Amino acid sequence: MNNATPTSRLTHRDQDLDLPFVEAVEGNSGISIAPLRKQTGDVTYDPGFMNTANTKSSITYIDGDEGILRYRGYPIEQLAEHSSYLEVAYLLINGELPTQGQLDNFVSSVERRTLLDERFKSLFDGFPRDAHPMAVMQAGVSALSTFYQDSLDPFDEDQVRLSSYRLLAKVPTMAAYAYRVSKGHALLYPDNQLSLIENFLRLTFGFPVEKYIADPVVVRALEQLLILHADHEQNCSASAVRLVGSAQANLFTSISAGIGALSGPAHGGANAAVMEMLDEISERNMDPKDFMERVKNKEDGIRLMGFGHRVYKNYDPRAKFVKKIADDVLERLGIHDERLDLAMQLEEIALKDDYFVERKLYPNVDFYTGIIYKAMGFPTQMFTVLFAIGRMPGWIAQWNEMIHDPETKIGRPRQIYTGSELREYAPMPERTGTTEIRLEQLQAELEAERRAQQERIAQERRQDH
Ligand code: ACO
Repeated sequence: MNNATPTSRLTHRDQDLDLPFVEAVEGNSGISIAPLRKQTGDVTYDPGFMNTANTKSSITYIDGDEGILRYRGYPIEQLAEHSSYLEVAYLLINGELPTQGQLDNFVSSVERRTLLDERFKSLFDGFPRDAHPMAVMQAGVSALSTFYQDSLDPFDEDQVRLSSYRLLAKVPTMAAYAYRVSKGHALLYPDNQLSLIENFLRLTFGFPVEKYIADPVVVRALEQLLILHADHEQNCSASAVRLVGSAQANLFTSISAGIGALSGPAHGGANAAVMEMLDEISERNMDPKDFMERVKNKEDGIRLMGFGHRVYKNYDPRAKFVKKIADDVLERLGIHDERLDLAMQLEEIALKDDYFVERKLYPNVDFYTGIIYKAMGFPTQMFTVLFAIGRMPGWIAQWNEMIHDPETKIGRPRQIYTGSELREYAPMPERTGTTEIRLEQLQAELEAERRAQQERIAQERRQDH
């Protein structure tokens, strides 16, 4: 890589500027605009970072036009076909595929740390039954900083390694507990004779009084889905992890920010949104073509969830693989899900329709995952949680890269101010305007809050009986 060679000339307000050019191994190279403000007094403006690279990275490569995704140079298809979740975690975090000895050590370092401190039970029990499991998991990951104060120093490699094992091992346990608490089911202790994924399935679906035997097809399918979700370079949640980490916050705290970002429906929450969309179309007996017309007309701002991607302007390579897994799992479990037929119909319409073709909107990873998770027995609210378990190695790798990068500075974007110019403070009697409206609004908000609270109490009573 040939960094910081001044080869980009920019003319701005009649001034010629030579800006450092940062060359990529593959994909977009960059023009370093760091000196711009110093030289011109102006900043760049790029909402949503459509054109801004925040970092150099050697973890994941995506070619969105060609539909290519590679972790550390290895194509995602090969990893999903041949590798295991923990081997991929090792690869992402350490940069190379492990030898057998390295892998054995890594797997055992993770798999023996699945147990949560007993006090986590009361923490999880304290949340309302209908709490979203992503919120519960975010709180749980954040709480790891309180239980494991021996591994919080971001600059101590041994401590960071220990925190990484803890995250990989304990997050699936937390996910399972978040699910069981919402069901009012007893929490099981992990069984470390089992693999991480079998353990997670048992903790989620098992019963204290019976032996749980996981279906190997389901275990492998879940493993492949976790691999497909393991990293995706500088997406919203990875950027959140890096941004929080750039303030030297510890790994647990940084990753809990990533979980928050992932919960949004425009990001990881899309897999649940796809299911809700398919259910709504079925329940309302809507013709898929009519639904697509509503999407194209942007009625009520609806979108075809699970379609489109900031980076992929081609078929998401993960979506192709997911479709295959959906076929395998449904066949194995003997399930015929009409939602799969409906999703395929919507895809067929979209791929032939000018609206989607012109905007290069293709299925993303979330379009078919929900159907598989449903077949496995997960409720819709758990879909994004599964995504978060998968993404854990990527977040850890991104955070590590950030913390070791000598160019890392605290993430602190500039802004272009559009508010009032300087004005004098006005004493209360001199102010005119909207006091009554604000009071009415406040009363309406209080009333809505009171009703929501009553509804929640009533619901909890119903659940308790
Ligand atoms: N359905 C209908 N129209 C869409 C969709 C969609 N799913 N996605 C984008 N468009 C349209 C937009 O309305 C816009 O049209 P316009 O040019 O007429 O204004 C155009 O395509 C570009 O859309 P943007 O929102 O500017 O694209 P952006 O790159 O910002 O958004 C995003 C990407 C958020 C993923 C978007 O495609 C979307 O909302 N998809 C649905 C949600 C989803 O599936 N998210 C999961 C992403 S993958 C992941 O996080 C794992």
